[in-house]
Amino acid sequence: MTAGYRRCLSTLIAHTKWVHYFSIYEKWFSPYRGKEIVFVEIGVQNGGSIQMWRDYFGKNAKIVGVDIEAACKQFEDADNNIFIEIGSQDDPEFWHAFKQKYPRVDILLDDGGHMSNQQITTFREMFPHIKDGGLYMCEDCHASYWKPYGGGVHKPDSFIEFTKKLVDELNAFHTGDELKPTYNTLNMGGIHFYDSIVVVEKKQIPFAPFNLRIGKDAAIAPFPDVL
Ligand SMILES: C[S@@+](CC[C@H](N)C(=O)[O-])C[C@H]1O[C@@H](n2cnc3c(N)ncnc32)[C@H](O)[C@@H]1O
Repeated sequence: MTAGYRRCLSTLIAHTKWVHYFSIYEKWFSPYRGKEIVFVEIGVQNGGSIQMWRDYFGKNAKIVGVDIEAACKQFEDADNNIFIEIGSQDDPEFWHAFKQKYPRVDILLDDGGHMSNQQITTFREMFPHIKDGGLYMCEDCHASYWKPYGGGVHKPDSFIEFTKKLVDELNAFHTGDELKPTYNTLNMGGIHFYDSIVVVEKKQIPFAPFNLRIGKDAAIAPFPDVL
């Protein structure tokens, strides 16, 4: 059992998380513990995970929950730096107002409606808003394969297929003129796939990648010019 899992078990309100998520949270979120960050989670439900994040990140972190259910507002606790915004994650107007209210977001975790169109709209609206050096995490991506969620293997409009195309954007500089570098090309430090979770690192790429040739050519196997 990871330290993160043990810490999360101490939360008071019942909520459900897939057990293998905790080591992924720990790997990516632990550098931010105790820091003055803004952490956004989509999907508040009974307030269980909001309480867990409050405990995990410490009192310097601002925790912002987003949910479509107005009743979730009851979990707002400004004295404890917990804020709840009511709106739908597939509504760009909602995100427009959200970004004005929260000009800085360090980490966004999408645990909302799990429909691919919701996850894709949220990524498009919010990835550009994540602070340089921050993180975008979407969980329960298995819904991309689940029929009740409109999913299926290689379903072209699923969130997982959307993130596979991000891999091409990440490598756009190496495609000749086939793919033009996009905002995402210039702002993704890496994409990490786990069972049901995708993590995208927000990192400015200030110039096209290049390599340095060092050392002497070997007589038998000269370095290929193409690299
Ligand atoms: C899996 S629950 C969240 C659980 C919570 N993160 C926890 O671990 O305790 C999903 C939540 O997403 C909310 N939701 C569903 N559709 C949404 C949408 N379009 N926009 C925002 N929230 C949505 C639901 O109301 C529900 O509370």
